[in-house]
Amino acid sequence: TDRYCVFGHPVAHSKSPAIHAAFAAQTGQTMEYSAIEAPLDDFAGAWRRFVAEGGRGANVTVPFKEEAFRLCDTLSQRARRAGAVNTLILGGNGATYGDTTDGVGLVRDLKRAGVDLAGARLLVLGAGGAVRGVLEPLLAEAPANLVVANRTVEKAERLAADFRDLGEVAGGGFDAAAGPFDLVINGTSASLAGDLPPLPDDLFSEGATAYDMMYGAEPTVFLRWAAERGAHAVDGLGMLVEQAAESFFQWRGKRPDTAPVLEALRASL
Ligand code: ATR
Repeated sequence: TDRYCVFGHPVAHSKSPAIHAAFAAQTGQTMEYSAIEAPLDDFAGAWRRFVAEGGRGANVTVPFKEEAFRLCDTLSQRARRAGAVNTLILGGNGATYGDTTDGVGLVRDLKRAGVDLAGARLLVLGAGGAVRGVLEPLLAEAPANLVVANRTVEKAERLAADFRDLGEVAGGGFDAAAGPFDLVINGTSASLAGDLPPLPDDLFSEGATAYDMMYGAEPTVFLRWAAERGAHAVDGLGMLVEQAAESFFQWRGKRPDTAPVLEALRASL
């Protein structure tokens, strides 16, 4: 049996095993997918051991995405740009290939939610690894412009400079986020702490969407705030399922139907 896993630390809470089991059942693939808690000081060793035991590929989550990036022999263009890898693939020659599917996952979920990215005015909150990982696929959809706003202003400015060759990208602080925007994506980890970035009130255009890359049984404070201001609020559960589907496709060459998997996952929250 071909073996796959998700590496994280902690990883017990991961929904990836359930998602990939559903994809495998749906597409008739015989495979195993487990969750492995890699040691914080030896991610590369954990991957090598997994390969020695028959591992064919893996997903990588917090806090190992940058370490995974460093151990790859070859990388997709989007992974190189992201500086992070969430999908490892063992090549026939024993080489490790790395890709990042988070950005495509986000874009597919936005389309599912009915967001038209072409020509849209986009605001992305945060300038950490999560945001760096999604900027290239977002810019590939040809938005009118994209503003990156972050608590630490220099990080937003640096990120904007790194992606400016792909479109009209500006970076600044939260107070510089002058709307209206058609789509506001929260890529900060503020939601985890129940915090809301200090945002101006008049951020959203008519019919705008607010997207939080986090998810939970209850809407995040950002999504509650956005809904109160008339935005269509969408959480990141669909992104989780879509990035998994893209990883699954890379490994197995089959595209699962994500809708029933997302629905079941939503019901289980
Ligand atoms: P990740 O991999 O999730 O992106 P990260 O690289 O540590 O993690 O980035 C976390 C992001 O959330 C950063 O943009 C961070 O802002 P700073 O760059 O100023 O640190 C942002 N963030 C975390 N907590 C926040 C809070 N309470 N309010 C606003 N932004 C916050």
